[in-house]
Amino acid sequence: MSTKRVFSGIQPSGDIHIGNYMGALRNWVAMQDDYATIYCVVDLHALTLPQDPARLLQARLRTAKILLAAGIDPHHSMLYFQSQVPQHSELSWIMGTLASMGHLGRMTQYKEKEDKGGQNLGLFSYPVLMAADILIHRVHAVPVGNDQTQHLEFTRDLVGRFNARYGDFFPLPEQISPPVGARVMSLQDPSSKMSKSDPDPGSRIIVTDDADTIVSKLRRAVTDSGREVAYDLEEKPGISNLLDILAAFTGRGVAQLAEEYAQVGYGRFKDVVAEAVIFGLQPLRQAYLNLEDSQVKQIMDEGARQARTRAEETMTALRSLIGLSD
Ligand code: AMP
Ligand code: TRP
Repeated sequence: MSTKRVFSGIQPSGDIHIGNYMGALRNWVAMQDDYATIYCVVDLHALTLPQDPARLLQARLRTAKILLAAGIDPHHSMLYFQSQVPQHSELSWIMGTLASMGHLGRMTQYKEKEDKGGQNLGLFSYPVLMAADILIHRVHAVPVGNDQTQHLEFTRDLVGRFNARYGDFFPLPEQISPPVGARVMSLQDPSSKMSKSDPDPGSRIIVTDDADTIVSKLRRAVTDSGREVAYDLEEKPGISNLLDILAAFTGRGVAQLAEEYAQVGYGRFKDVVAEAVIFGLQPLRQAYLNLEDSQVKQIMDEGARQARTRAEETMTALRSLIGLSD
């Protein structure tokens, strides 16, 4: 049996937070043992919102460094910048010719960003490029948080259309999301997800935050009425989010944790969560501080070289399949 292939991507549009870590990154690292893993800093996706060139350049590098510090091992995984592998864009164009405009218009992420004043073709066709990212390596599975479910469904729909027309070329990629932490909520508003683009930095914990910052962000996290620590998404969304975070960082179940901390009070409970997060992120933070920019650049260049070779194999077969070469 051949090893299954996995692809996932992350945008360099801001600092990586514990939502990214719990929903995606931790899984990426774990999957390296059992799958052929391919991970990408999707810098072309970041252009769908206005970016300052100098800051984008810095953010790409920082994102790559965090992935390495979190445990993505370039000897096990292919890791690269999307823009360095032009086959992603070529495949995106081809898949776009099969995409349903109606389906694209219904994407929650598109509607949200459109509401915030973002209107450009890239934002609309974003899921097509994401599908191309996944399909260029013909992978079987995609580890992502729950907010990507619609995009994965869209990708599967495109695979269905392509395969129906040209024969069985792409595997149908399945989504892999963790049982806990697939949707971490904002510390300041537990009804919206923790997000890189939230204007309030207090809404998220960055994976490289120092201990004092983590303690103070958690102390300021909004909680709910009442005093008892309990898992109740309706009545206590703030505390339930903190329980999810604690569960993800300790590997223990939320029910058991809720029982243990039921009576300690919100203040003490937040400090327990802070301690677990600080401890859990410590190795990443240390590794991050030890990595040199030049090392990271070299790893990314080598990753792109490998990825171009692999992506070109797919494109060669595909061009001949659809009548663009013989
Ligand atoms: P992004 O920040 O949009 O580039 O997302 C990178 C990865 O992190 C994707 O797999 C997302 O599904 C995941 N992710 C983003 N925000 C969260 C969140 N608040 N909770 C869990 N996973 C998330
Ligand atoms: N759309 C994803 C996000 O916002 C990022 C992404 C781009 C991605 N291409 C991908 C994730 C391919 C998985 C596979 O988080």
